[in-house]
Order: sequence, then structure tokens, then C-alpha cells
Amino acid sequence: MNKCAVYMLSALLLTVFILVTAYSQDDMMFVDNSVFSKPERTAAVFEHDAHNEMAAIEACDECHHIYEEGIRIEDESSEDQMCSECHDIEATGRVPGLMKAFHLNCKGCHLGRKKGPIMCGECHPR
Ligand code: HEC
Ligand code: HEC
Ligand code: HEC
Ligand code: HEC
Repeated sequence: MNKCAVYMLSALLLTVFILVTAYSQDDMMFVDNSVFSKPERTAAVFEHDAHNEMAAIEACDECHHIYEEGIRIEDESSEDQMCSECHDIEATGRVPGLMKAFHLNCKGCHLGRKKGPIMCGECHPR
């Protein structure tokens, strides 16, 4: 490849990268439900970044946490992992099963703050 082709290719790759990141972060995010063998509901949606800004959540580890021996490690985030990588469908010991993990995290905070949806259809659109 000549220099020009290399330049064009890297520009293209960069554009694709930006588009992909922008798409997954700024737009509606469908929380992956494919790990549930037969999903009963539509995949939950929320606007990842906009939601966290609106709710004034600064720490990624409010949701993407890391625990060591039952203690949450402050400022350490598991943002590069899916919740399902640590939460199996069924609970194991102190680690809640996947659905419970999501509901405790999402609804738990909404209930606690008396803000944010708690009705099924508000997160799982029809
Ligand atoms: C605050 C948001 C929120 C609310 C409210 C909520 N859920 Fe969920 N729920 C989720 C998320 C996030 C998941 C993870 C996977 C997915 O569905 O995208 C999930 C997963 C599930 C699952 C497992 C996956 C499946 O489709 O089988 C079921 C069943 C479910 N929810 C039922 C309900 C029911 C019933 C209600 C109302 C009583 C409800 N949810 C309310 C966010 C919510
Ligand atoms: C209110 C909870 C919450 C907060 C706060 C949060 N996230 Fe997420 N994030 C999620 C959920 C839920 C998913 C989907 C995980 C899954 O499907 O297992 C996700 C997915 C991601 C993904 C992967 C995939 C994608 O489509 O974008 C990245 C990267 C990410 N978050 C980064 C961050 C960073 C960086 C922060 C802090 C600035 C952050 N998150 C804060 C809930 C949150
Ligand atoms: C790196 C592994 C790991 C990842 C990734 C992970 N968790 Fe957890 N989670 C754990 C462990 C371990 C516990 C048990 C903590 C204890 O010992 O009390 C836990 C506990 C929980 C609890 C109950 C305690 C609490 O903090 O409220 C909820 C809810 C939860 N996780 C939700 C989530 C959600 C939602 C995601 C994805 C955004 C997620 N977890 C990602 C490992 C993980
Ligand atoms: C640490 C607290 C917290 C957690 C965790 C959290 N939320 Fe929220 N959420 C809020 C607050 C606060 C609001 C209301 C913001 C407002 O209206 O000012 C909100 C609003 C929402 C809304 C309505 C506004 C919008 O963005 O469309 C949806 C949908 C939502 N949350 C889904 C979720 C889902 C799905 C999860 C779990 C993956 C989750 N939330 C986890 C605090 C939280």
C-alpha cells in the first residue's frame, strides 16, 4: 500500500470507531438480554450517558463495580465487562442472579431516590 492508501484507511477506521462509540454511548442503549435463554420482556432501554448525567451519577462503579471478598473497591470499575460475566442466571452465594442484579441496581436506586421509573413498561417498552 502506498502512503495515501494507508492514510485513507486509517481515516476510515477512525471514523468507524467514532461512529461505533458514539452510537453505543450517546444513543438509546438496549441492555443485552440475549443471555436469558427465553427473554420474557423486551430488552430494557436507557440512554447510558444522558441517563447518568441527568441522574448526576459520577462514578462508573455505581453500576460497573468490582468486589473483593465482599467489599466494593472504590474507584475501580468493571466497565469493560458485561454484568453477565460475573452474574450468572442463578445466584451464587452473595452474588445475585442476573435479573435480580439488574433490578436491584436500576430499580433499587430509583426507589431509593424516589426518582426514575419502577414500572415494567417504562424500562421494557412494548
Ligand atoms: C428500571 C428499569 C427496569 C424496570 C422498572 C424493570 N426492569 Fe426488568 N430488567 C431491567 C434490565 C436492565 C434487565 C436486563 C436485561 C434486559 O432485559 O435488557 C431486566 C431483565 C428482566 C427480565 C429477565 C429477562 C427477560 O426478559 O426474561 C425479566 C423477566 C424482567 N426484567 C421483568 C420485569 C418486570 C415483570 C418488571 C415490572 C415488575 C420489570 N422487569 C421492571 C430493567 C428494568
Ligand atoms: C446506572 C448504571 C451505569 C453507570 C453509572 C455506568 N454504566 Fe456503563 N453500562 C451500564 C449497563 C447496564 C451496561 C450494559 C451492561 C451489560 O449489558 O451487561 C453498560 C455498558 C457499558 C459499556 C459497554 C458497552 C456499550 O454499549 O457502550 C461501556 C464501555 C460502559 N458501560 C462504560 C461506562 C463508563 C465509562 C461509565 C462511567 C463514566 C459508566 N459506564 C457508567 C450501566 C451503567
Ligand atoms: C467483575 C465482576 C462483576 C461485574 C462485572 C458486575 N458485578 Fe455485580 N456483583 C459482583 C459481586 C462479586 C457481587 C457480590 C458482592 C458481595 O459480596 O456482597 C455483586 C453484587 C451485585 C449486586 C448486589 C449488591 C449491590 O452492590 O447492590 C448488584 C445489584 C449487582 N451486583 C449488579 C450488577 C450490575 C447491574 C452489573 C453490570 C452493570 C454488575 N453487577 C457487574 C460482581 C460483579
Ligand atoms: C445510582 C442511581 C441510579 C441507578 C443505578 C440507575 N438509575 Fe435510572 N435514573 C436515576 C434517576 C435519579 C433518574 C431520574 C432522573 C431525572 O428525571 O432527573 C433516572 C431515570 C431513568 C429513566 C428515565 C429517564 C431516561 O433516561 O429515559 C430510565 C429509563 C432509567 N433511569 C433506567 C435505568 C436503568 C435501565 C438502570 C439500570 C441499568 C438505571 N436506570 C439505573 C437513577 C439511577
